[in-house]
Amino acid sequence: MDNPIGWARRALVLGSTGMLMSLCIELVNQGITVAAIARTPEGLDRLQLKSQGLEGRVVPMALDYHNLNRLSHWIAHFQLIEGPLDVVVAWIHPPAVPVLETIVAEVHAYRNMPWQLVHVVGSQNALNPFSWRPSPPAKYQQVTLGFKIESGVSRWLTDQEIVNGVYGAIVGGQEFSVVGTLTPWEKRP
Ligand SMILES: NC(=O)c1ccc[n+]([C@@H]2O[C@H](COP(=O)([O-])OP(=O)(O)OC[C@H]3O[C@@H](n4cnc5c(N)ncnc54)[C@H](OP(=O)(O)O)[C@@H]3O)[C@@H](O)[C@H]2O)c1
Repeated sequence: MDNPIGWARRALVLGSTGMLMSLCIELVNQGITVAAIARTPEGLDRLQLKSQGLEGRVVPMALDYHNLNRLSHWIAHFQLIEGPLDVVVAWIHPPAVPVLETIVAEVHAYRNMPWQLVHVVGSQNALNPFSWRPSPPAKYQQVTLGFKIESGVSRWLTDQEIVNGVYGAIVGGQEFSVVGTLTPWEKRP
């Protein structure tokens, strides 16, 4: 991956040490300061180790994103020290709306320019679309994780396929995208 998102300086990633870990590494590789949230410090340590020597850096935040007071405090603290967030990538276990509302409120306290909220949702979104949207200047983008069909056999996405799809949405800015496919629905693994 080259550097097509040079305009972004600061990103927040929720779900940073699971399937999105290599997305964090790529953002750091592009000189971005990545605020990385996960509950387990060991996972965040691994992410920091992997990002050593790259252009940007990881700011680890070991917390449960459902603890909205802590989440809000940490985002405020990060922005006070580092500056306003440009991109937020959110892979959140339900309930997602209170978490997203908290993030949006904190980002809007620090910036009035457009920013990207890239929301990653599972394939069930095809049946029950997530309808919450933030107020401007947040730009909401939804990335739905689908599945792949190869030689007639279906499988779930690999982490790298997911990361490539999410990265593509950050760069492309499209409101909706699907990684893999959601059709035919009855062929999902
Ligand atoms: N359609 C598809 O193909 C599809 C869809 C969904 C998932 N998947 C696959 O399923 C696998 C597992 O997905 P997964 O959901 O278990 O997630 P994951 O992406 O492997 O990990 C979840 C991430 O979120 C963090 N996290 C979870 N709960 C948190 C909380 N309450 N507060 C803060 N951070 C939290 C975890 O760290 P901590 O545990 O340290 O908090 C971790 O960083 C993925 O690797 C992916 O390949 C595929």
